[in-house]
Amino acid sequence: MSMYAVPDRVWAGSQSPIITPDDFRREWFRAFYDPDGFWLDVTRRLIHWQKAPTEGAYGDFHSVKHSPITWFADGRLNVTESCVDRHAEAQPDKVAILWEGDEPGDVRRLTYRELHREVCKTANALAALGLKKGERVILYMGMVPEAAIAMLACARLGAIHSVVFGGFSAEALRDRVRDCEAEMVITQDEGLRGGRVIPLKQVCDEALEGEHGVRKVLVYQRTGNPVGWKPDRDVWWHEAVGGASDERPATPVEAEHPLFILYTSGSTGRPKGVVHTSGGYLTYAAYTHRVVFDLRDDDVYACMADVGWITGHSYIVYGPLANGATTFMFESTPVYPDAGRYWDMVARHKITVFYTAPTAIRALAAHGEGPVKAHDRRSLRVLGTVGEPINPEAWEWYYNVVGEGRCNIVDTWWQTETGGISISPIAPATATKPGAATLPMPGIVPQIVDEQGRVLRGPGQGYLCIAYPWPGQARTVWGDHARFFTTYFSTYDGKYFTGDGCHRDEDGYHWITGRVDDVLNVSGHRMGTAEFEAALVFAEAVAEAAVVGYPHPVKGQGVYAYVVAQPGEVLDTAALDALNAIVRQRIGAHARVDRFQVVPGLPKTRSGKVMRRILRKVAEGRGDELGDTSTLADPEVVEAIRAGYSPG
Ligand code: PRX
Repeated sequence: MSMYAVPDRVWAGSQSPIITPDDFRREWFRAFYDPDGFWLDVTRRLIHWQKAPTEGAYGDFHSVKHSPITWFADGRLNVTESCVDRHAEAQPDKVAILWEGDEPGDVRRLTYRELHREVCKTANALAALGLKKGERVILYMGMVPEAAIAMLACARLGAIHSVVFGGFSAEALRDRVRDCEAEMVITQDEGLRGGRVIPLKQVCDEALEGEHGVRKVLVYQRTGNPVGWKPDRDVWWHEAVGGASDERPATPVEAEHPLFILYTSGSTGRPKGVVHTSGGYLTYAAYTHRVVFDLRDDDVYACMADVGWITGHSYIVYGPLANGATTFMFESTPVYPDAGRYWDMVARHKITVFYTAPTAIRALAAHGEGPVKAHDRRSLRVLGTVGEPINPEAWEWYYNVVGEGRCNIVDTWWQTETGGISISPIAPATATKPGAATLPMPGIVPQIVDEQGRVLRGPGQGYLCIAYPWPGQARTVWGDHARFFTTYFSTYDGKYFTGDGCHRDEDGYHWITGRVDDVLNVSGHRMGTAEFEAALVFAEAVAEAAVVGYPHPVKGQGVYAYVVAQPGEVLDTAALDALNAIVRQRIGAHARVDRFQVVPGLPKTRSGKVMRRILRKVAEGRGDELGDTSTLADPEVVEAIRAGYSPG
């Protein structure tokens, strides 16, 4: 037995092994000194393996250049056995998915027994449509239980799913279908959100126009309104799944078999297909979910994210289900039909753990305390935030008004690439400070580096890196391992670079200051400035465009676009509105330029590089702090940009 063995008693039931600060220190140091031993223990306790692994990690942040890091490589499993089968056996009548639709009170409850049946039936239907292990399936759906069922059904067959958020446009969807060479798409007739209908099938049809790779489109009927139909390609979910057998053995896969691809924005216009694999990802999602939220058997755990983002993958579907929890799925918005919706649901469903984005908190705080206080929130124990930095005022409001000063707040920092929560308080064990993501999870060794890549010791401010592999990390970019290496491991030799700035205080707490690359975080949605720029220059009237973020009181960041007109073109208000229509068409409904500034040119160095630092300063209203601009090719452009800025 290892010296740092975790006492078994704390693992009884679904209790977290970290309840006190001492527990945390013990786990963190064990994971630091003996990561393989630590994670092998964790995975054997939390995950069902058909063949238990004996190997920990293979490879490091130098060797990743040549081949992906592996975890538990000699193990075999199917993640659905951990997420569904064993709970269907041990606690068949426990609610696995508690769903509330767009209209308040429109509720569905799927027990683990029912979830098992639905996953098996859907897997059988997909197999009958020809889906095989290793093939890719795009999911383009709203927040219905069938989205989670479809993810699990793919996993049951060893097929690789890629969920595309239902707000993305046909063009964005087509790019993703092509990039991963999807064999199949699963969608809905329509989505419902905030009383509005989202034409998912129609967008899907547009995306697939002329695409020959996709053999079948499986369509879940949500609204029943008429939709276009291609009889040789399209299949109704209720017809294919309805009659399928409810037994389906889980296909065993290697630990490193890809579980899913999730596209995310980076510093180029082309989204990256981040690849997560089976054993390590599930281990990390389950462990962090259990530990951070102090998961208990009778919790009603509710994460308000969408399954189209990583939060929905790790903390609506895979983490909670692996832990046998009751996980809530919500189809609507925080303000439909009014700003009390979240708290109304907390009261009706007796939600104990509630996890949302700072943007939602800020938006709701603007409606005052009334809509919160109208509902009974005594069931709440843990409140979480994710996706962007939370300002101390919003944190205090969440803590005092929503949580009545008695709930622990966990400000969870992580990324699509990290697979699960990486720096965060652990609800019962970490003293919090409003706005701080606090301390790293066991297994995470953060380093803050300066411009030259020198590691800062003690308090300081710089760029956030992670020094060693952990099981939940992304393994590669789909079809482009070189891009994976260059993006994450080439900036600071031998380290994973997160793209975030970070300040560490005298208590060792981490305060994330936001992205330092060309990624924007708007209302918790991650978007690339390059994607916006590509959309803007697509317009005939635009010669050049540069997009930066600026502080926005509710959305965290707003989108600020500098546009240069083509000679002879005038960019008046109507023309600028038309540009936003193009942005929407090329990216999606969640993408919008908040402020345009028409400029005579962009500030460039003599070698032609756009000086984004200057553009950011002006957009932030700090145009008088530009410093030396004499190295620019055309300093007068800067004057014109500065003069053309108007606040608000
Ligand atoms: O800038 C950080 C911010 O969101 C980025 C990751 O975005 P995405 O991959 O879409 O994943 C979001 C959900 C995990 C990070 O690089 N971010 C995420 N959580 C926090 C955060 N910034 C500050 N505090 C957080 N808690």
